[in-house]
Amino acid sequence: MKFSVLALLPALIASAAGRPAENLEKRATPKVYLAGDSTMAKGGGGSGTGTEGWGVYLPYSMNIQVVNDAIGGRSARSFTNEGRFQTIIDAVQPGDFVVIEFGHNDGGSLSTTDNGRTDCFGDGTQTCTSPTTGETVYTFVFYEVQAGKAIQAKGGNVIFSSQTPDNPWEGGSFTYTPSRFVGYAQTAAKAIGAAYVDHGQYVANEFQALGLSTVTSFYPNDHTHTSPDGANVVAAAFVKGVLCANDALAPFVKNSTSSVPGSCI
Ligand SMILES: *[C@@H]1O[C@H](CO)[C@@H](O)[C@H](O)[C@H]1NC(C)=O
Repeated sequence: MKFSVLALLPALIASAAGRPAENLEKRATPKVYLAGDSTMAKGGGGSGTGTEGWGVYLPYSMNIQVVNDAIGGRSARSFTNEGRFQTIIDAVQPGDFVVIEFGHNDGGSLSTTDNGRTDCFGDGTQTCTSPTTGETVYTFVFYEVQAGKAIQAKGGNVIFSSQTPDNPWEGGSFTYTPSRFVGYAQTAAKAIGAAYVDHGQYVANEFQALGLSTVTSFYPNDHTHTSPDGANVVAAAFVKGVLCANDALAPFVKNSTSSVPGSCI
């Protein structure tokens, strides 16, 4: 009977392509896609280095499937240019969720060199020209908004999440200074009416409560990439943020707000 299904496919594809997103039925069981860098990706800063990304621990708190498409070394710009957002946009069905969290690889200057990751400075429509390739480079907010709009056009729910802190106990006492990309993630969310989780602040609050020695043990190699235990805390902080915001993803979290450590901000 296979041939009859195959014969139907072109018609099915044609009808799906012509339908606006709002008329498409939501998936009964949505999926959560994760777009981010090494701090979220499987293996963390690299397999075998004792690190893990927080996206690996999110599934333990969710009643729905988590698809971790995060990959080390990426920025909002390189995730865009490599077609990685497009892959997610193509896969998204109405009612799915996409968590977008970048920042660690987005900084730097484009004045003389270009590593392919640095975004144009600014939080709006500024553009730069790559000094090495001549490529027009856009801002972090531009890349995030562009991806977010395309996901929303497919009926997906976008959650912009602020980047994780580098070890806030690094100097021996607690200091958390959010990077400019934290504010930019919120700007992107406001621009398209997407959800926002200040993940960086939720993590910082947990790390402050856990103290110097525990948090130091979470960073086996450097001040950015966490151990599996650290990644588990970072994942829980995200879950807390989702529950506290009570956004559209919250009903798919297994845990109650009060059972997850920390306070709402
Ligand atoms: C939520 O509950 C599950 C057990 O059902 C547990 O594995 C997970 O770690 C919990 N998540 C958080 C964020 O506490």
